[in-house]
Parts: sequence; C-alpha cells; structure tokens
Amino acid sequence: MKIGFGNDHTGVELKNALLDHLKKAGHTCVDFGTKSAGEPLDYPEAALRVSRAIKAGEVEKGVLICGTGIGISMAANKVRGIRAAACSEPYSAKMAAMHNDAHIIALGARVVGEELAKMMVDIFFSTPYEGGRHAGRVQRMADMEEME
Ligand code: RB5
Repeated sequence: MKIGFGNDHTGVELKNALLDHLKKAGHTCVDFGTKSAGEPLDYPEAALRVSRAIKAGEVEKGVLICGTGIGISMAANKVRGIRAAACSEPYSAKMAAMHNDAHIIALGARVVGEELAKMMVDIFFSTPYEGGRHAGRVQRMADMEEME
C-alpha cells in the first residue's frame, strides 16, 4: 500500500521508526512531515498535506503523528471527505479500519511507545473495511459535511 506520513516536530522519532517498519513490511511510504525536531511544523499543516495527498490519489492512506494524536486528527477531519482516527491501542486501530473506513490513523508520540505504535499501524493497514451495516453510517458522516 502507498502510505503518506505527516508529523509535527514532536513526532519525528516515531515517524522514522514507523516509516522504517512499514517499508520493511513492503509498503511504499511518502513523508510529508517535518524531518527534524529543530524544524517546527504545526500539526494542522502536516494533517492538510497528507489529507490532500489522499484526496489526490497520491497515497491511499495515512499516518499522522503529533504529541497526542488529537490535534492532528482534528485537523485532518476538517478536510472534506477525510476520516482520521486518533488511536492509542490496537482494538481502536482495528475498528477504525473495519467499521469507520478511516483513511488515517493518528498517533500521539507522547502517548504511545514505538512497539505499540508498530502493532497499531500493522493492524490498521491489514484490516479491511467491512461495509454492510457500517456503510450507511459512514455515508451519513459525509452527508453531514454538506449539512452543517
Ligand atoms: C505540540 O506541542 C503539541 O501541542 C502537538 O504536538 C499536539 O499534541 C496537539 O494536539
């Protein structure tokens, strides 16, 4: 799978670890985040870059990393059509893919350790969307973007 990465200055180390891990697993990774903690990048900008790349078909899915995973997921969810899930344990990572058809998993570099994060991205990218009864709910979220 082609995966876009975005991170602010808090997420450089975890991003590098996950990029390496997913490349070794055979994925193609594109880095849209800041490459150095000394080069600050605000989390909304990182979220926007990855979200736009997904919408443009440049990458299929994404990983976003900030300190908590919260700000960067909130920002991505402001981009029309994008569904991002902030996760800090594997069950949510699985359900975000299986039930919510999330495009992006958002992680907190100050919240989760490297091994837990690896486990979560592995689960997120290997779990298919189930569709069926979930499709109407996912569609309803898209409808709400037009309503409010
Ligand atoms: C940056 O200090 C921090 O606020 C940011 O990485 C993130 O945690 C926001 O949600």
